[in-house]
Amino acid sequence: MRKKVTVVGGGFVGSTTAQRIHDAGLADVVLTDILDGPPAGKALDMAESAPILGTDAHAVGITTASGDYKETANSDVVVITAGFPRKPGMSRDDLLKANYDVIKAVVEAVVKLSPNAILIVITNPLDAMAQAAFKVSGFPKSRVIGMAGVLDSARMSTFVAAELNVSVENVHSFVLGGHGDDMVPLARYSTVAGIPLPELISKEKLEAIITRTRKGGAEIVNLLKTGSAYYAPSAAAAEMVEAILKDKKKILPCAVYLEGEYGIKGLFVGVPVKLGARGVEQIIEIKLTPDEKAALDKSAGSVRELVNVLGV
Ligand code: APR
Repeated sequence: MRKKVTVVGGGFVGSTTAQRIHDAGLADVVLTDILDGPPAGKALDMAESAPILGTDAHAVGITTASGDYKETANSDVVVITAGFPRKPGMSRDDLLKANYDVIKAVVEAVVKLSPNAILIVITNPLDAMAQAAFKVSGFPKSRVIGMAGVLDSARMSTFVAAELNVSVENVHSFVLGGHGDDMVPLARYSTVAGIPLPELISKEKLEAIITRTRKGGAEIVNLLKTGSAYYAPSAAAAEMVEAILKDKKKILPCAVYLEGEYGIKGLFVGVPVKLGARGVEQIIEIKLTPDEKAALDKSAGSVRELVNVLGV
């Protein structure tokens, strides 16, 4: 039997995530939105591409305006993108309260019908929304994961590959912390064909890449004028879904609930984890210098402020 993935929120991030999962034949996809029509239309359009692409995965789209989530029952993974995107000049944190209400309603509904699912949260502000989903769901911490690190690392890798004129496949970037302006791109642990970045790129250029990575989301928002990034976010989500459905035991940077790891307790923060069929199967702890640890603590502090506002 094919696996089943529900994508909640059929906007730009949700529909492209659903499309990537469907097109790769990873799972049958249910796309949901409070809007009536668009999710069904997008899913039908996706389904009609299957004969051309040669995928047997099914795609359906439903509206959940009436609160009916039946179609999503027994999903293996639920990707949550529902919410409001960032507008130019708006910080991720401005979205906090509006999106919390959305996450709460969505999570309460989906977990009833898919009690064994793994939740991947994409809605911003990411770390706080993941924490909200964790608390509302009552799921074990291994089954609630925030998508941010894969995206932030991909952005950094893109800039490194361009700077050095090498294949993106050679670059492994390492970004820790919350998905905010004080995320922690770690040059020391980022490599090109196994060579640490500081040996290949000057300090100034590295600093510029780190700054651009931190502001990567805003750069796209400012260019798009309306809405925020979706190609790279959806690719990142699909990589996480694949790692879970194929039980790949893949090490990826994700936002997970820390209980003392990295000296942080009771908070979702981005760290390297092993993703497999059981969700987060291991949190990988690496040694940090005092500066790096201070930067991680600062980033975690920003997440803590948000979760305190929400009381989650
Ligand atoms: N249930 C289901 N869908 C909802 C709900 C809800 N309660 N509330 C809003 N939505 C839907 C909207 O109708 C919209 O179609 O969520 C969708 C969001 O889509 P977009 O506005 O296109 O936003 P998108 O670019 O996809 O970003 C979604 O991901 O990266 C983050 O910051 C981004 O938080 C934002 C999220």
